[in-house]
Amino acid sequence: MQARAPLMIEHRLIERMISVIKHSLTQIESTQEVDPVFVDTAVDFIRIYADRTHHGKEEDILFRDLGKRDLSAQDQRVMQELIDEHVFGRRTTQALVDANARYRNGDETALADIISRLRTITEFYPEHIEKEDKVFFPSCRAYFNDDEDQAMLKEFREFDQKMIHEKYKAVVDGLDTG
Ligand SMILES: [Fe+2]
Ligand SMILES: [Fe+2]
Repeated sequence: MQARAPLMIEHRLIERMISVIKHSLTQIESTQEVDPVFVDTAVDFIRIYADRTHHGKEEDILFRDLGKRDLSAQDQRVMQELIDEHVFGRRTTQALVDANARYRNGDETALADIISRLRTITEFYPEHIEKEDKVFFPSCRAYFNDDEDQAMLKEFREFDQKMIHEKYKAVVDGLDTG
């Protein structure tokens, strides 16, 4: 298995979640109501899976190693775009969290913000994923020999192993105020 395989498999689950959000958006718009717990679940998926676990491997391992290579101007430009898009995703998710809190507090203007942020997420991710799957990942493979690619795959596995522990430590940290 090549190192990019797990990243591409993760893209497929992110795409499924994007479809779920799209479907919910239709309902939210027709009823003019949202279940804030659905938003919490979507945010948890985006933050812990799509951002920390998936973008984490891209940024902390793949992009880090690419940073030590002599990238073409085109590859360098696309990598910077991807990094900027990760930042944009984080900002959009934070704005969604803020709007959801306002909605829970009865702010009537919050629903429009929730809808707009959810829509941004459904538009931004598929384009980002396509750029990685079809353009960037195939082109970066040339910067690594087979051993280097396998070393990256191993590091991806080790990174993943930490995630479940990090997630539930954060849950307990959040609850344990004593
Ligand atoms: Fe990415
Ligand atoms: Fe990705």
